Amino acid sequence: MNRMVVLGTGSALPAKVLSNADLEKMVDTSDEWITTRTGIKNRRIAGQGEETSKLATAAAGRALDMAQLSPADIDMIIVATITPDMGMPSCACLVQKELGASNAFAFDINAACSGFVYCLDVADKYVKADPDMKILVVGAETLSSRVNWEDRNTCVLFGDGAGACVVTGTTEQRGMLACKLFSDGSLYKLLYMDSAPSMNRDLFCKENDGSYIKMAGRDVFKYAVRSMDMAIMNVLDMEQVSVDDIALIIPHQANIRILKSLGERLGVASEKIYINLDKYGNTSAASIPIALDEANREGRINPGDLVLLCAFGGGFTWGAILFRW
Ligand code: ACO
Repeated sequence: MNRMVVLGTGSALPAKVLSNADLEKMVDTSDEWITTRTGIKNRRIAGQGEETSKLATAAAGRALDMAQLSPADIDMIIVATITPDMGMPSCACLVQKELGASNAFAFDINAACSGFVYCLDVADKYVKADPDMKILVVGAETLSSRVNWEDRNTCVLFGDGAGACVVTGTTEQRGMLACKLFSDGSLYKLLYMDSAPSMNRDLFCKENDGSYIKMAGRDVFKYAVRSMDMAIMNVLDMEQVSVDDIALIIPHQANIRILKSLGERLGVASEKIYINLDKYGNTSAASIPIALDEANREGRINPGDLVLLCAFGGGFTWGAILFRW
């Protein structure tokens, strides 16, 4: 059977660092509050020339370098984002242009913080149909553009960045083993972001006050822990492996307390959960591919390791993927 394998990973982060001390000057908060409630110390904030598509292109370039492929080798580009540069075209089309990946077709996926996991599942379906395909999968966000910088409940949480990987098919006994995705749109009001106000007067909505992220933090916390736990148990069951067999879990980097609670529910040692949210905050769809790239380059993932990715985000959307590296 064909399986999807990762040929290369890459990531890119804006130069500007926004620390908790900086935020203390912007809203009524403290380094102590942010650190104990979230685990976040710094986040990166995009500046000129660091639009979502530019960060995505830089991350993609690094993944291509590791894969030893050129942009012309890529057949398809999928970008997970909720903060594309424009409503149209897609961020993926801008990445295709920037890279000069003229043989690729390109499109975006919006599944909020679960977007990268959703994209990998789509790529896996293409690779199963045509194992020679080379696919670029990217998660990229500039959430700083959609955060209300006067709302201390949300502005301390988010950051900007991009991560990418190049995948293809193999008949070897490794690669993506299992994936399980979920959505529950009935809970969308607990975490959402308006679009630009409608120009159609009949559809204009007074409650749409821009496009800020709005969140019921405690409810999100509860659902995130339960849902990622459930998704993980599903993929472990699918492959009949135990959580003890997992070498590394690379979760969506939302909040240290969510990840600690998840670890306790699963009964896994904290060293097995990869964490970099202290440096970058919550970068939504970019968080898993950035963490995957850092873990890969640090040598935290070795051939033959079982690696788990898990995500939870607006929608709600959630899911997990099991890889044999
Ligand atoms: N600094 C200081 N005080 C703050 C801040 C801040 N930045 N933000 C909120 N507070 C205050 C609140 O106003 C409240 O004050 P009050 O009691 O006077 O009303 C107090 O702190 C406690 O607020 P809670 O909301 O109860 O704090 P909680 O312990 O739940 O922590 C947090 C809030 C960190 C948002 C938590 O609920 C959480 O982690 N939720 C998950 C949200 C998340 O990760 N969202 C990301 C998007 S979804 C995803 O990626 C999975």
